[in-house]
Amino acid sequence: MATGPEQTPASTHVAPSASTHVIVFANEKGGTGKSTTAVHVAIALAAKGARVACLDLDHRQRTVGRYLDNRAETMKRNGSVLPMPLHATLSEQSEDQFEDLWHSLCQGSDFLVVDTPGRDDPFARTAAALANTLVTPMNDSFVDFDLIGQVDPETYQVTRPSFYSELIWDARKQRARADGTTIDWVVLRNRLQHIEARNMRRVSDALAQLAKRVGFRIIPGLGERVIYREMFPAGLTMIDSKAFGSMGLAHVAARQELREMMAALQLPDVVEQVPGVAA
Ligand SMILES: Nc1ncnc2c1ncn2[C@@H]1O[C@H](COP(=O)(O)OP(=O)(O)OP(=O)(O)O)[C@@H](O)[C@H]1O
Ligand SMILES: [Mg+2]
Repeated sequence: MATGPEQTPASTHVAPSASTHVIVFANEKGGTGKSTTAVHVAIALAAKGARVACLDLDHRQRTVGRYLDNRAETMKRNGSVLPMPLHATLSEQSEDQFEDLWHSLCQGSDFLVVDTPGRDDPFARTAAALANTLVTPMNDSFVDFDLIGQVDPETYQVTRPSFYSELIWDARKQRARADGTTIDWVVLRNRLQHIEARNMRRVSDALAQLAKRVGFRIIPGLGERVIYREMFPAGLTMIDSKAFGSMGLAHVAARQELREMMAALQLPDVVEQVPGVAA
C-alpha cells in the first residue's frame, strides 16, 4: 500500500498503558455508529462501577463530548445521579495536547474509550496503535464493507483486503513491536435489522471470509432503532432505565442487545459486581 505523509500516525511519545484498557472506535467511513456505540460502551462500563474516561478525537463534531455534556445537564436539571465517565476533547490538533490528555485520562482509569473522526486522521492512527480493543462499527452494506475488503461483483467472494484492513494491520505490527501486545480488532455490526435480507447474508458471508484472512472478530452491535437517535439531547442511553420510567418491550429488547454486545466485546472484568448496580 502506498503511504503518503498524510497517512502516517501523529508522532507522539505516548507509551501503551499497563493499567488502563484502551478501547478505540475507528472507521474512516463516516456515520457507521462509532460515537453512538462508544457512548453506550463507556456508560455501560461506568454503570458496572468501572472508572471510565472518554477521549473525543473528533473536535469538529464532538459527538461523544456533547453527548456527555448533555448528560451532565440532565443530571443538573433532574437532580439525578447517573453513571458518568470523565471526558475531554482533543481541541487543538497538537501532539502536546494529545499526550497531556492521554496521560491525564489514563491516570486512575480502568478504561479509556476513544472516539475518532470518520475520516483519515493522524491522531486516530496513533490511537489505533495504542488500543487494546479496536472496534470498527459497520452497517450491513457493501458500501461500508468496501473500506475493509473488496468482493467479486458476481459471486460476492472476497477478492482482497482494502486499504483500511492494511492500515490496521500496520497498527498491529507497530504495537506488537512496541510491547508485544496483540490488538483485539473487532468488527461490530451496527444497526442490525431484524428482518433477514439477502444483502445481509451476503455481507455476513463476506465478513466471515475476510475475518479469517485479516484476523478480526465479528460481533453483533446495536439494532436499528429510532431510540438511539432520540436519546442524544438528554445524553441518555439504554442503560438509564430509571430515567425512562416504565420500559416497553422494545426497550427491554434494546437493553438485551446492549448486554450481548458488551459480553461479545470480551473486556476485562475490573470490578466486582456491585449489588443493585445495573449490569
Ligand atoms: N443502532 C442505531 N439505530 C438507529 N440509528 C443509529 C444507530 N446507530 C447510530 N445511529 C444514527 O446514525 C447516525 C450516525 O451515527 P454516529 O454519529 O454514531 O456515527 P459515527 O460513525 O460516529 O459518525 P461520524 O463518522 O460522522 O463521526 C446518527 O444519526 C445516529 O443517531
Ligand atoms: Mg462520530
